[in-house]
Amino acid sequence: MNRKNILVTGGAGYIGSHTLVELYNSGYKPIVVDNLSNSSLNNITGAEQIIKSKIDFYKVDCTDFEQMNKVFKEKKNIDAVIHFAAFKSVEESVRHPDKYFSNNIRSLETLIDLMNSHNVNNIIFSSSCTVYGTPEFLPVNELAPFGKAESPYGETKQLCEKLIEKSTINSISLRYFNPVGSHPTSLIGDCSADKPNNLVPIICEVASGKRESMQIFGNDYNTIDGTCVRDYIHVVDLAKAHVMAVNHILNNTKIKTAYNLGVGKGVSVQEVIDSFQKVNNLKISYELGPRRSGDVEKIYSDNTKINDELGWFPVMSFESGLESAWNWEKLKN
Ligand code: NAD
Ligand code: WQD
Repeated sequence: MNRKNILVTGGAGYIGSHTLVELYNSGYKPIVVDNLSNSSLNNITGAEQIIKSKIDFYKVDCTDFEQMNKVFKEKKNIDAVIHFAAFKSVEESVRHPDKYFSNNIRSLETLIDLMNSHNVNNIIFSSSCTVYGTPEFLPVNELAPFGKAESPYGETKQLCEKLIEKSTINSISLRYFNPVGSHPTSLIGDCSADKPNNLVPIICEVASGKRESMQIFGNDYNTIDGTCVRDYIHVVDLAKAHVMAVNHILNNTKIKTAYNLGVGKGVSVQEVIDSFQKVNNLKISYELGPRRSGDVEKIYSDNTKINDELGWFPVMSFESGLESAWNWEKLKN
């Protein structure tokens, strides 16, 4: 089979590794660049086990122009790039904003320079619903303006989208809502180096005994049960959307667009905890705590644009996301 080459930066990470599998299964050849700053080679070997094939892997930092240039030279015909590589902790970005601006912006700038000089014209960028800040209308659609960034991390996503917009490269920015779950094989998953800050990984740590208990950050919001509402999307559905975005960008000569990537349904923090307990048949120790600063009360997506233009629809259930998240946590320990 003559497979098209897709350069996947950050491909050893949580979402990247799931995307490698879907790319390969759809007839593409993923080539990974990752410095393993927040992941593990196990995600590459895990993906290789799932697809039963080797994956080209370069341990390279995306901000290193010379090393990246070598990859572009060696691989010659790269058809498209999926750019996952970035730091992603909202909380750390508040403590070390420079680290976030430097890594997230410089890696994209380097990539755009190299794409221009090597004539690679298609990029899929990992953006986030955080670009909307607190949206005025729900469900939020892509016409909503960028809101006030809730964190330096959020600001880097806004700046990156603008950088891509200004470039001459064809681009699709995918604005992820809240990814959850793992591949059903449990061979790949989130290997983040830091303590998790996201809800489902924290619930998993409580379930495994790594944490004694957790807090629900605020129950006095104007929502169904007073707790914050988010749009949780299974990581396998998220990965499949990248393949559809690659298909789309390779079949169209001029594209500059952004899509929401969420299920389109709001779920409260309390509902997540209740469902996790039910699906996995265990008890989570939690208490009600104060609001977390910077939290948006509720946000969920209008996903009509990606439904209509890419034919993407979520198929994995929320429950299977919670089940696979727990399975991954058990194997990690
Ligand atoms: P992740 O940390 O698991 O994956 C990111 C990968 O990029 C890691 O493997 C890391 O080692 C690598 N990396 C970071 N900086 C690099 C650099 N300079 N050079 C080479 N490799 C580098 O994170 P993820 O959850 O898979 O997120 C992937 C992308 O999606 C990120 O851009 C993130 O901001 C974005 N995103 C994530 C979420 C989420 O909740 N997970 C939500 C919205 C957007
Ligand atoms: C979800 C809900 C918390 C932990 C962040 C980024 C966003 C995107 C996804 C990358 C919130 C509540 C959490 C806890 C809790 N990432 N919570 N107790 O804040 O929606 O989004 O990750 O782009 O940009 O901002 O995700 O998982 O941190 O929180 O009550 O111990 O769970 O308050 O309402 P969030 P999250």
